[in-house]
Amino acid sequence: MPITEAEFGYPLRSARLFLQPIALDDAGDVQASCLDWESVRYTSSIPYPYPENGAQKFITEALAKWDQGTYRLLAARKQDDATYVGQFGLTFAEDDPGRAEISYIVTRSVWGQGFGGELARAGIDHAFRDLGLTSLYARVFLANEPSNRLIRRLGMRFEKVVRIHAPARACDVDVNWYELDRADWKEGGR
Ligand SMILES: CC(C)(COP(=O)(O)OP(=O)(O)OC[C@H]1O[C@@H](n2cnc3c(N)ncnc32)[C@H](O)[C@@H]1OP(=O)(O)O)[C@@H](O)C(=O)NCCC(=O)NCCS
Repeated sequence: MPITEAEFGYPLRSARLFLQPIALDDAGDVQASCLDWESVRYTSSIPYPYPENGAQKFITEALAKWDQGTYRLLAARKQDDATYVGQFGLTFAEDDPGRAEISYIVTRSVWGQGFGGELARAGIDHAFRDLGLTSLYARVFLANEPSNRLIRRLGMRFEKVVRIHAPARACDVDVNWYELDRADWKEGGR
């Protein structure tokens, strides 16, 4: 299924950002944002050191999964100068088409300016409003303080701590499991 600008009104817009389906043109920016340890240490599948052409491979796979209907990955850029800020992903649950896991990463040079909250809010609203999903969940490493703060601010509900395998970290890690049901979703967080 080809991705069109018009599909679901892409690009999505927030106060400072626009979000659109990831493309191979984004590979350079994605590659640069995955290179440093602080950016990837609390992710389970981004390798460190990040391989050359890692982003190109990752985006190619993401596009194939989009076509299969199992994954949607959006790149977020600033509206004023199109600077790449990060990405937001939805991984659809195999056993429930109305359910997805959210993921997000912000490029380190712009951390702490609210972009994580802004792009995740836009992505969550998109999931419920445009894609009609009924529930979202997120898994956040216990030690990832900024992300735990962010996800609570987004109104996601802490459920439990679970241990998962993190292939890129080559170990098992404890994560906080968060849920958000459509009934508890407020567009724009208000
Ligand atoms: C988690 C992440 C997306 C946050 O992005 P961001 O743009 O800095 O987020 P925001 O500015 O919107 O807010 C982050 C929150 O963490 C806080 N924060 C920022 N840096 C922090 C730090 N070093 N320690 C503790 N809290 C911190 C901010 O004050 C804010 O909290 P508040 O809403 O209570 O004020 C970003 O750090 C990131 O991409 N990390 C690497 C990838 C990752 O871990 N992704 C999430 C996987 S679950």
